[in-house]
Amino acid sequence: MRNLTSFPAPPTPPPATPRPTLIRIAGANKTFALPKGGDFHAVRDVTLEVREGDIFGLIGKSGAGKSTLLRLFNLLERPDSGTVTVDGRELTALRKNELRDARRNIGMIFQQFNLLQNATVFDNVAFPLRIHGGMNAEQVAARVADCLALVELGDKADSYPAQLSGGQKQRVAIARALASGPAVLLCDEPTSALDAETTRALLGTLQDINQRLDVTIVIVSHELSVLGEICNRVAVIEDGAVAEQFDLADTSAVRKTVLGRELAQHSADIIEAQARKERAHA
Ligand SMILES: Nc1ncnc2c1ncn2[C@@H]1O[C@H](COP(=O)(O)OP(=O)(O)OP(=O)(O)O)[C@@H](O)[C@H]1O
Ligand SMILES: [Mg+2]
Repeated sequence: MRNLTSFPAPPTPPPATPRPTLIRIAGANKTFALPKGGDFHAVRDVTLEVREGDIFGLIGKSGAGKSTLLRLFNLLERPDSGTVTVDGRELTALRKNELRDARRNIGMIFQQFNLLQNATVFDNVAFPLRIHGGMNAEQVAARVADCLALVELGDKADSYPAQLSGGQKQRVAIARALASGPAVLLCDEPTSALDAETTRALLGTLQDINQRLDVTIVIVSHELSVLGEICNRVAVIEDGAVAEQFDLADTSAVRKTVLGRELAQHSADIIEAQARKERAHA
């Protein structure tokens, strides 16, 4: 790690009261049967906790098991063993209809946006609300308008996905994921299909959602810059297991993994650049 002693130490933040755990994965394992026989152990004995208000990053090489692990968070993938608890409900113990209800509390977005191509932006966002029922047309319209305003796409309600840019498509996906008012937003490589500038704007939107709506975010990425930019805590995934996890603000501890060290260096660089900027303006 580069010597930063010539710079003033970053101010110690006031000791904030730790917020409660919102998501707990405990002793989770997931094995896939291989077509030619045998098993592949994709998630190995993973235990981790995400606190309310976190932007929690999962980082690791391709094939490390990040997406599989993320899909355990809402039981899109059911673990072979272990438990998944979100907002006080143990998803792994719920019946089918209870699970459907609990999933409304967990939105998800993907690298390739996964929008309905033959539906307008409005109908894409309205889709989960209509599926679940319980809202009349007026209430659906009001909620959709709110969600589109949140991602600054109020003027695109009547457009079709093919008429949108990549960044706009991902914003529609975010609006759809937020429509049911979830406490958690899961993001699997949400910026991988976007250019650098659009990535920055989208990360800003996610941060805004985290802060303004208090939505807890779990984000998978293999891009250090993405996670370094918005996460407060990260877990490094190697061969399906958590190799280490740490708060990005904690720059003192020695990191065990290469990715952990690179991420720590990246955070130190951000702090250094910020300090330089502040000195220039002093
Ligand atoms: N349905 C499945 N059947 C068999 N093997 C699978 C299945 N899904 C995932 N795997 C295997 O599990 C491992 C982890 O896959 P996963 O998609 O979770 O990795 P990842 O870390 O998200 O990778 P990437 O960064 O490339 O998206 C891979 O080796 C993959 O081939
Ligand atoms: Mg993946």
